[in-house]
Formats: sequence, C-alpha cells, structure tokens
Amino acid sequence: MQEYDASDSGWQKYAMGDESRGYTRNLVDEGNGKSNLLVLVWTPGKGSPIHDHGNAHCLMKILRGDLTETRYDFPGGGDEQPAAMKVVSEKTYTEDSVAYMADELGVHRIWNKGSDFAVSLHLYTPPNVARGGCNVFDPNTGKKSHVKKCGYYSAFGKLLKD
Ligand code: SIN
Repeated sequence: MQEYDASDSGWQKYAMGDESRGYTRNLVDEGNGKSNLLVLVWTPGKGSPIHDHGNAHCLMKILRGDLTETRYDFPGGGDEQPAAMKVVSEKTYTEDSVAYMADELGVHRIWNKGSDFAVSLHLYTPPNVARGGCNVFDPNTGKKSHVKKCGYYSAFGKLLKD
C-alpha cells in the first residue's frame, strides 16, 4: 500500500461517488478469495458509522484529499449500563498516508471533513466483512447492531443496481 503511487490514475475508474450517501464502496479485486481491495469515495462533510472489522486486518491508503479517523474503545458486550463511547484518538490522514486498523485496536469511524470528495484504497484480509457483515455502534450508548451485508456501489468498474 505504501509503494502504490496515488498519482497513477489507475484507481480513478473505480472511484464512483454519490453525494446522497456518506460514502460508496467500490470493489476492485477479490484476491482469489483471500482479500478484498476496495476504492471508497467519501462525500464532503459525511462519513462512516462507528464500526468493527469482522476480525480482519484493514489497511487504508489515502488517494485523494484528507480523511479523519476517530477511534473508540471496543464497547464491552456485557450487561453494563449504556454509556457514551470513549474516544481514544482522532487523527487526520493526508494524501498518500497509510493507516492500519483491526478489532484489537478498537472500533472507528472515518469522516471527510473537507469540501470535496475524498478517495481511499482499502485492503481487507481475510474478507470477513464481505462474507459476514460487520457491527456498527451507537456513539451515545455503545449499542451494537449487526449489518448483514456491507454492499458495493460498483464492482470491477461497473455500477451495481441497489
Ligand atoms: C467500509 O469498508 O465500509 C468502512 C471503511 C472504514 O471506515 O474503515
């Protein structure tokens, strides 16, 4: 991911944005069933909900713009009282930066605070989220909801129907 030259415009045909959504997920490659490579296009002023990563490794490289990541402690799954989720860090990644995330490090959300679309390249391995979905969390209570299918907006450069 570090070596990929973002000025190579190869990623652009996958970068399909949609301002009616927080972001779009565009599938580039399925790595022989061992990984998922996605181009994500982030609408200005919007972002992802707080989510986990299905016990997989996630690498993110910024291809265009800046993206802000807020990390939270993984909420306990027990009988604790609902409580606002604890922010552990907030960091803005600039073009060409690479970040790593996994469930061991907590959960996070990504936000495009800029005024133009931002684009990032994500490698997930193993592709657990594509197979089994992920969990999203309510920032005010820590309550978890399972999302069965984290779908794609396009695959292999072609727009998909909803
Ligand atoms: C996703 O793959 O849908 C979320 C990307 C992220 O915020 O880590």
